[in-house]
Amino acid sequence: MKPVIVLLVSMAWALTRAQYYYQGLMDYLENRMLAIEDRMELWHEQSHRYHTELRDFKKLAAEIMDRLGKEHVSLLQDLEGAAARVERMEREMDYVETWTSPRACVNMVDKVVEQGAWSVDERKEEEEEEEEWEEVHSRVSDCVDLISSIRSVKILKRVGGPKGMWIRDPKTSKVYAFNGTSGDTIYQFNSVLDFSRSPGVNHSRLIRLPSLWSGTGGAVYNGNLYYIKQRTDAEVQVAKYSLLSGLLMDTAMFPADSYAPVYSLNPETIADLAADDEGLWLLYAISESEPNIHLAKMDPETLDIEQMWDTRCPRENAEAAFIICGTVYVVYNTRLASRSRVQCVFDVNDMVVSEEAPLLYFPRRYGAHASLKYNPEEKQLYAWDDGYQILYRLTMKRKLLV
Ligand SMILES: *[C@@H]1O[C@H](CO)[C@@H](O)[C@H](O)[C@H]1NC(C)=O
Ligand SMILES: *[C@@H]1O[C@H](CO)[C@@H](O)[C@H](O)[C@H]1NC(C)=O
Repeated sequence: MKPVIVLLVSMAWALTRAQYYYQGLMDYLENRMLAIEDRMELWHEQSHRYHTELRDFKKLAAEIMDRLGKEHVSLLQDLEGAAARVERMEREMDYVETWTSPRACVNMVDKVVEQGAWSVDERKEEEEEEEEWEEVHSRVSDCVDLISSIRSVKILKRVGGPKGMWIRDPKTSKVYAFNGTSGDTIYQFNSVLDFSRSPGVNHSRLIRLPSLWSGTGGAVYNGNLYYIKQRTDAEVQVAKYSLLSGLLMDTAMFPADSYAPVYSLNPETIADLAADDEGLWLLYAISESEPNIHLAKMDPETLDIEQMWDTRCPRENAEAAFIICGTVYVVYNTRLASRSRVQCVFDVNDMVVSEEAPLLYFPRRYGAHASLKYNPEEKQLYAWDDGYQILYRLTMKRKLLV
């Protein structure tokens, strides 16, 4: 009996021990599970929070993007409006400038450089009565137009390279186009209308000149074409070519020993010819070191030089010049082309005073003028600007002293 009791007791003890053991294990596991559950719950919460935050952030970002997009559109609209306003302002400035601009610098005639018959006449006249001086004066020049403003601009077409020149013969209405800055051919059109309607230069007659022309300094006067001819670097001449007979009529030596561009912004142009109501004029530089533009009056028949002046208008930053009734208007610009303006005026008859010479601004354009040629009959300028052929119609007034 005793061993059975011992066995039972020991079994019960062993069972109790095992129970304890399992109970402990269970407790332990349960605790671990609880801890894991807690942590999972925490993770869950955190991940939920992250998700919510992420969603909120995404929403916010989308809203911001949306708002930015809208602001961008309205900014663009504002910019467009501002651009339009600036343009309008500029146009108004143009207008105001032509009315209230300061005066261009006018240089008085330098009596010392005058030569030949004119200075003899003048010395004689100075001793005579004022009325007789007026009489002689009006015989020399009865043209008294002075620019007051640029009335209108017409962009005719775009043909040829960035530089060149075009002119209309006041006598025959024919138009002559010089493409580029040198060559031996020019294009002739029957009229300005013909020129503007022609696809490219298709409606033109090609004229091959007997020698190369150089620069944008040509002029047409009385059925003759005058141009600057440069054979070598050392020899520059003024050539006269008859458009009727197609023959070279005459050439004249240049009135200076060395050559320098007459306008610093168009260095290909050594000298510039201009024809107006008073005849033929030559604008040139006498040497590289001489800063001013010089002027000579030529006999259109013989090409003899009748008279010479120092205009005292600087060559630096000049892009072109034109002559109306014996008054030289020099047009200046900057190397990075901006607004061209007449900023220096020289009158050979000393009739223009500073107060009446306008500082004339040209309307905003594409590039810079390669040439500006005045046509006295139509009172307009033939301009070549970056390959565009442009007409400027001018408003005139009478010179004050007349
Ligand atoms: C005009 O000259 C430019 C170069 O300055 C040249 O490229 C162009 O082909 C010429 N056009 C005509 C019609 O001669
Ligand atoms: C102009 O002439 C050129 C060749 O000379 C030709 O290729 C072109 O088609 C002509 N254009 C027109 C519109 O006639």
